[in-house]
Amino acid sequence: MTVTLGLSALAHDPAACLIVDGHLVAAVEEERLNRYKRTTDFPHRSIQFVLAHAGLTLADVDDIAYYWNDLGQFASTMWWSARQAPGNPSGMARVARQRFGTVRARSLLRRELAVHLSDGQQLPPVHFVNHHLAHLAAARYSAPFDPDAAIVVDGRGEIAATSLYLLKPGAGLPSACEWYPFPDSLGVSYGAVTQVLGYEPIADEYKVMGLASYGSPDPDAERKIDALLRVHPNGKYQVNISMLRPEHCSAPGRPWLGDRALKLLAGEYGDGDTPTPAAHNLAYALQHRLEEALCGLTRRLVARGSRRFVIGGGVAMNAVAIGRIRGVDGVEALHVPLAPTDAGASVGAALALLERLRLPMPGVQELTNPFVGPGYNIAELEQALAGLGWRYWKCEDAAWSAAQDIAAGRILGWFDGRMEFGERALGARSILADPRDPAVRDRINVLVKRRETYRPFAPSVLEENASMFFATERSRRMGEIVRATALAADVVPSVVHVDGTARPQTVPKDWPAAEFRRLIECFFEATGVPMVVNTSFNVRGEPIVCSPMDALQCFATSGLDVLYLGPFRVTRDDAARQNASDD
Ligand SMILES: [Fe+2]
Repeated sequence: MTVTLGLSALAHDPAACLIVDGHLVAAVEEERLNRYKRTTDFPHRSIQFVLAHAGLTLADVDDIAYYWNDLGQFASTMWWSARQAPGNPSGMARVARQRFGTVRARSLLRRELAVHLSDGQQLPPVHFVNHHLAHLAAARYSAPFDPDAAIVVDGRGEIAATSLYLLKPGAGLPSACEWYPFPDSLGVSYGAVTQVLGYEPIADEYKVMGLASYGSPDPDAERKIDALLRVHPNGKYQVNISMLRPEHCSAPGRPWLGDRALKLLAGEYGDGDTPTPAAHNLAYALQHRLEEALCGLTRRLVARGSRRFVIGGGVAMNAVAIGRIRGVDGVEALHVPLAPTDAGASVGAALALLERLRLPMPGVQELTNPFVGPGYNIAELEQALAGLGWRYWKCEDAAWSAAQDIAAGRILGWFDGRMEFGERALGARSILADPRDPAVRDRINVLVKRRETYRPFAPSVLEENASMFFATERSRRMGEIVRATALAADVVPSVVHVDGTARPQTVPKDWPAAEFRRLIECFFEATGVPMVVNTSFNVRGEPIVCSPMDALQCFATSGLDVLYLGPFRVTRDDAARQNASDD
């Protein structure tokens, strides 16, 4: 038996995964378990979960793959800090000092891991994997086609902030053919403007992406973004690093821009909850510049003969930009892994190590199955329900019953099977509603999410019917913004954005969350509409629910009408029970 533990730790997005004999048996983000959204705690709970799920202990692990290799690249990181210094002498000097500090992370990591060992047990070997190589492995090995190019783009790796790769079938993971050293970083420049707009970088970039669709071209906003980030005619981009405080660019709470830059980008943007037209326009200019930069990099690879792309790194969460890249001339296929973020780099680090050691690796089907988190059996679900005072009973057919509830206008919590790995709720921990109701977005926001309404909620649509409503035939991880058709605007207005786009999840016949697929089929049968509204099962500021108790707590504190906890239908009152059709 060969056991590999993959880790993302000691920064944002801590997570763990376990690969046993070439099978991905479990993966989970720490925030789902410790219940602190965007936690940076060491992933002790995640490690415990993935090992316990396989009935193993840390002493049974053969190798640990960590998603960062500071010491291995120490000399070159220092060299690059020096090389970048003329652009920002004081900032890069501080970055160089910080790099000394990161070397200590190795002993810290070993100390934290030792907690999971008993007396006398030895820590398995820890392998430090280049950060962008971990992102690359996560993207490449989960692609449902043979990719010939990859783009990894995030805030920063050890040195690189953006890496381009040319891939050859059957060959190992290559070195980058082109790369951009931190702080010449698309993720950092986007984060810096996110902060100027009153949001938190490394967290709220998706809000800025959403705001952008309300903006329009504005010379003042263009001028500000021009000063920070330019794209050259040859497709290369360049960040004005003199505007940054690079030593802060991993700390969301500290200013990422220098004083002069802050003055230059200042404006009447409102606070984050009530953005002004100036905020919309700055977001628009930023988003368009990011798209231009990513499309430019893509074209550089197309010019070298590449056609089939994979993209990883946190910036790949920008669903609008991913949609734009797909439209670049010459791009024939595009894949983004389930978790392109640093949480997913835990899996990528393990895959890169297995590849290096020539050990068996999980196949595409396993790496595209998001349902690898904690799951609970019926006894555990009923135990959670017992004694809490909610009315509940066991449905003969929960999928059918839930579909009837949704068709009757109820907003429900859907908790079934193992939790998703990655940022999106894809059928195991979801809030579901009727997409035909134009008021459903406001209702979910008032009752449950209490979030900014920059974008509508996403639809989960039967894959074979998707192209009637959206300009896509397959988009299984809700990672891409696509055009909605006139039919969609007419029939399912609640999932179509003001700019005529949507972010669908296409659900195939063999989707691992089989009950979720059947729920949509039942809703189709009942209404003639092959989709439901699907948003993650959480209230604002909290991670997606993980355990039955999390779900019951969310149900108790939100305005959800009904909760499905596996086969159990949980309601607030007798009236709802009388309306249930199958009990
Ligand atoms: Fe990353």
